[in-house]
Amino acid sequence: MVETLNKKEIILSGIRPTGRLHYGNYFGAIREFIKLQESDKSICYYFVADYHALTTITTYENIYQNTIDMLRTYVACGLDPNKSIIYRQSDLPCTAELTLLLGMITNIGFLERGTTYKDKFSKLREEAKVDGNPLSYGLLGYPVLMAADILIVRADKVPVGDDQRQHLEMAIDIAQRFNSRFGETLHVPQAMGREAFRLPGLDGSSKMGKSENNTLDLLDDPDTVLKKIRAVETSTDPLPLPVESNAPDDIISHMPSGVGVLYRLLSLLAPEPLYLEFVQKYRKGEKFYSKLKQEVARLASEFNAPIIERFNHPDNNQEHVESFLRANAEKVTPVALATVEAVRKAMGIGHSLYRA
Ligand code: TRP
Repeated sequence: MVETLNKKEIILSGIRPTGRLHYGNYFGAIREFIKLQESDKSICYYFVADYHALTTITTYENIYQNTIDMLRTYVACGLDPNKSIIYRQSDLPCTAELTLLLGMITNIGFLERGTTYKDKFSKLREEAKVDGNPLSYGLLGYPVLMAADILIVRADKVPVGDDQRQHLEMAIDIAQRFNSRFGETLHVPQAMGREAFRLPGLDGSSKMGKSENNTLDLLDDPDTVLKKIRAVETSTDPLPLPVESNAPDDIISHMPSGVGVLYRLLSLLAPEPLYLEFVQKYRKGEKFYSKLKQEVARLASEFNAPIIERFNHPDNNQEHVESFLRANAEKVTPVALATVEAVRKAMGIGHSLYRA
């Protein structure tokens, strides 16, 4: 087994490079990443899954620029490149080599059971578009690449929400299969339950998402925030709440969806007394939606202001991001190389005689 120099537990998470970040990203993941980096028992590795981004795009996208802008936003939110190891997947090309090697022992049938793949495939079949299989090798192999991400740096724990749980189980499966076939070589990671918080979209749908076009963004200026919040659908008067609790999880599901979104945002952004004041208004059925919108917009703009300021800070420019990405790729490379060399040896092709 390859020993890592770092005795601290490694917590690893991959982030898709989406460019602009929204409140769903923040309250679903970013705030937890920032909390995790404060522990002194563990060290967080956060990498931008730019190879993975190529499995879902259909035309050219500037993934590089999205990566840089997204990381500037992460840093603006409090992710600290001095506390966490932040790197880019493609700066660790050993990951690609490990993906190839693991692909040799991974059945297609196993990969075809991946839910992301299965969903895409069945959608195509429903639309009767399947003539041969137009899905990419990369998409089918998504879980193998994800396994390589985790195994290459010998991660101990991987925090995942429900949507990534199966991918993580597949990674564990691949590692165990490798070890039982070729001898203990790979460090098998553990899943780490992640608070599954899903923010609804501004359109009232269940999920805020970039492709759904229903986001409140962390870099939105006050005018944009106000415009977006004003546009939230609130034509339905308050409905009676069948519960006594005032907790957002207990009452929001009983509200008209647009109103629910505003209360969800209020619960995340407002001091508790203000949130409770609006819950009381709701219970009384007073006319208050425009005041509610004003307050939510004000709170969101206040929330965004320091993020926008730090995003634009001269120290948080592209060069800064490039320099910590470079330094961190350099830092993780020795372990990554050791892992891939151990895998080569275990599989019988022996260590590499030359590496560019
Ligand atoms: N698939 C993950 C997502 O879509 C991103 C990811 C890629 C990842 N590789 C990973 C997460 C390794 C954890 C570990 O969110």
